[in-house]
This record gives sequence, structure tokens and C-alpha cells, in this order.
Amino acid sequence: MDHQVAYKNFIAGEWVESASGQTFQNINPADSNDRIGEFQRSDARDVAKAVAAAREAYPAWRLMPPPKRAEVLFQTANLLIERKEDFARDMTREMGKPVEEARGDVQEAIDMTFYMAGEGRRLFGQTTTSELPSKFCMSVRSPVGVCALVTPWNFPMAIPAWKLMPALICGNTVVIKPAEDTPLSAYNLVATLEEAGAPRGVVNCVSGLGPEAGAPLVCHPDVRAVSFTGSVEVGREVAKACAPSFKHLCLEMGGKNIIIVMDDANLELALEGALWGGFGTTGQRCTASSRIAIHKNVYENFAQRFTDRARSLKVGNGLEPGVQVGPLISEAQLKTVEQYVQIGRQEGAKLLCGGHRLTGGEHARGWFYAPTVFGDCAPGMRICQEEIFGPVVSLIPCDSLEQAIEIGNGIVYGLSSAIYTQNINQAFKAMQEMETGIFYVNAPTIGAETHLPFGGTKQTGNGHREAGTAALDFFSEWKSIYIDYSDRLQRAQIDS
Ligand code: UN1
Repeated sequence: MDHQVAYKNFIAGEWVESASGQTFQNINPADSNDRIGEFQRSDARDVAKAVAAAREAYPAWRLMPPPKRAEVLFQTANLLIERKEDFARDMTREMGKPVEEARGDVQEAIDMTFYMAGEGRRLFGQTTTSELPSKFCMSVRSPVGVCALVTPWNFPMAIPAWKLMPALICGNTVVIKPAEDTPLSAYNLVATLEEAGAPRGVVNCVSGLGPEAGAPLVCHPDVRAVSFTGSVEVGREVAKACAPSFKHLCLEMGGKNIIIVMDDANLELALEGALWGGFGTTGQRCTASSRIAIHKNVYENFAQRFTDRARSLKVGNGLEPGVQVGPLISEAQLKTVEQYVQIGRQEGAKLLCGGHRLTGGEHARGWFYAPTVFGDCAPGMRICQEEIFGPVVSLIPCDSLEQAIEIGNGIVYGLSSAIYTQNINQAFKAMQEMETGIFYVNAPTIGAETHLPFGGTKQTGNGHREAGTAALDFFSEWKSIYIDYSDRLQRAQIDS
């Protein structure tokens, strides 16, 4: 299995080595013997070249008619469709999620690419009235400039596409720094954009570590906008780096998402949803259903059945048929999960299943952890407050919808929430009261579609949204235009 390919950075239309000549390894989290390739360990020098290339390419790309820019996106989406299976397999190898889920990740990139390509013939602004005669008013979108995109490992192609495609259709040029755990999927996407005809310098990609490559990128004075998805801790640092020069900044960070299960819910449906929401992607989604508040009338029944189902999930290498839960991304992530399970035990939560690493046999060479359920949790416990980003679900008994909503909102995050009920009044009440950017009825907290705004309230983000037309609002600036054809000075607010 040891065939080492050296993947390069993409700068000014060329595949180039890092200035230091150093590389890092991309290793399969399900199998440490499977070395996927060497990637460039970039630093400030590589970042400077990439930003310079993006800056140089900007004037021509900005002026290219958006339907022309869209042709590159349409072609990219078509090529992604052709390569979907290969790219999904690459993704499972570097990230670990079951290949069926990896196909979904590539599909999400395809959906976003087509959606934004379509925007090439929209990018709607407004025309409106004027308070003065013989005067015409309109607003149009203008690009921002060079954008820095810093992406996470859990959606290795979808999230790069969420950022690249709206940035490009709006007329920006970009430098992307993908997560060091999953650079191959970003590489595949960028190589596809190149093949689809993205002009030299419009898309640049530098791989590397956060402090060495990410930090100089977000600090670079020629970068006008930064879009970051990752942890709250790093997001705070990125925000500080952007503050002195007021770079536009879109942050997508943590979640501690809740499913509320009412006593009139279709319990079988709720069980299935909670299982997928909690353990899909090994719980490594910012939208993961990591808390379940269950009405006391159905708590015992639900907890018992949920635990039985969680225990029987098949954990393994995502390329093997029948595997439902892959490994954690890294040893560090596994350690985090181990620590939180320890914390949960100390806090007095009842460990209903899991709570240990899986080793030996098919699990011998990966970062596998048993799906874990804690029962009888109190909402204030750290395992109910802090994002774990692993296969750990906390069950919280509750007395009423009001109490469930209070529990749901009693955290620093506000990404996604859900309710299972057959009572439309309860569903609407929860929809109105939950302080989250995304809300589901009779579905788990994961599974957002690309044409709706994606993001959250409170410390999940900084008020921006990705996806849908909301993404255009981040990657463009409004220009309001007034055309006076009266041939005289007309003073707004004064002459009438
Ligand atoms: C993430 O977890 O970072 O809604 C993104 C979902 C996916 C995207 C998740 N479409 O779960």
C-alpha cells in the first residue's frame, strides 16, 4: 500500500513545491499503514506567492461577465459528476467516513457548484424608486477582492465548494488552505476547477498547518475577506487577526445541537433520526445531534431502544461494505473523546453503552471508538454543554416542551435543532423559540441543503450565513447607484 505521491500547491496556474521543500503525510485514519500521499508544508512565503497570484488575476476575473465565469463552474460540476466515485473513495481514505457518506459530500459540492453557476445569470440586485423626479436608483453586487478560505476536515470537499463557488461567481479570486488532515479532497476539487478552465491565478491552493500556512494567509494585507470553518478557539484567533484591518470575516464554528423528542412523537422515526444525527460521520459534524431531550413519558422506552441500536452499529473502515460508523479523524480527536467520556462519568451521567476505544482485528490500525450513549444527563453537565465532535450522545430527560426548549437554548451555540412530534402546535412553538440558525421538524439536526442559508446564532458564528444567496451577501459588496437625468442639482431630503 505504500505508494507515496507528492501532491503540490497550486499557485498562479502551476503545481509547485513549497518554498521550504518540506512535506507532511496524509494518513488514512482507519488504517495507519495506508499512506495516501505527501503534501506541501507551506509557510508565509508560499502564501505570499499565492496571494500575489490571486491579486494579479483579480482585475480580469472581476470584469469577466458572470455568465462567462459560470461556464467554469458548470464544467467543474460536470467533471465532478464523472469523478464522483473516485473522489468519494479518496475522501473515505483520508477522512474515514463511510463511502456512501463521502459520495454525499461530493454531491454537496456538485449541488453547490451548479447552484452558484446558475447565479451567473442572476446575482440579482434591486431597482427601486427615487424620492426625486428624473432620477433612477439601483443596487448591484461587486466583488470584494482576494479571499482567503480556510476549511475543515469533516466535509473535505463540500465545505471548500461552499466557499469557492460563491466567491468565484461573485468575481473574487481566492487562496484556499484546506485542513491538513484532508488535503486530497481539496486538491481534487482545485484540479477539477483548473481542468474546467479557471484562469491562471483565480484559484490558488496551499496546503499546510494552521499556524504555518493558515495564520499568514488570514493576516496577509492583500486579503480582503476571510471565510473560516473550524473550532471556536481558532475562530477567535482568526477574528483577532482580521480585526486590525477590518477584513470581512465569515465564521462557522461549533454546535451542540439538540433533538427534542415529545411523548406524541413517532418513536421509531425519532430513534432512526437520532441515530443518524448522533453517529453519522462518527458525530464529527458541527450539526451533529449530540443532545437528545426526551419527554419523561417516553424516556425509558426511547433510552433503551436507542442504546440497543447504538450498540449494534457497525464501526470500521468506511470502504468496507456495511460499515455505518468510521474512525475518528486523528489520535488527538480520539483523545478528546476519551477525555469527555471520563468527564461524563465523573459528572455522574449514566454510561449506557460504549465508553471505550475499539482495538484489535479490523480496528487495530485506526482511531476507532465505540458509539457511546450517556443517560440521565443534567443539562448543565459539560458533556451537554461542550462540543465533543465524536460518537457521544447525551440523553436528557425533560418534563415539558417549555423545559425542552429551555434546555435546548441553554448553551453558547446556536447552529441546529430539531423536534419530533405529531402535534403541529408544538412543532411551530419550538420552531419559533429555538435560537438556532437551522431547525428541523421530524428529522435530525443534520442534512442541510445547499440552496438555503447555513449557519448559526450565538457563538456558532459571527452573524453571516453560508450557502444559498446568503453566501453571495458575504462574497460581494453592495454598490448603490443613483442616476440623475434631470439636468439640475437635486438635493435628497431637501428638495421635494
Ligand atoms: C458541518 O458539519 O460542518 O447539514 C457541515 C449537514 C451537512 C453539512 C454539515 N450538509 O449536516
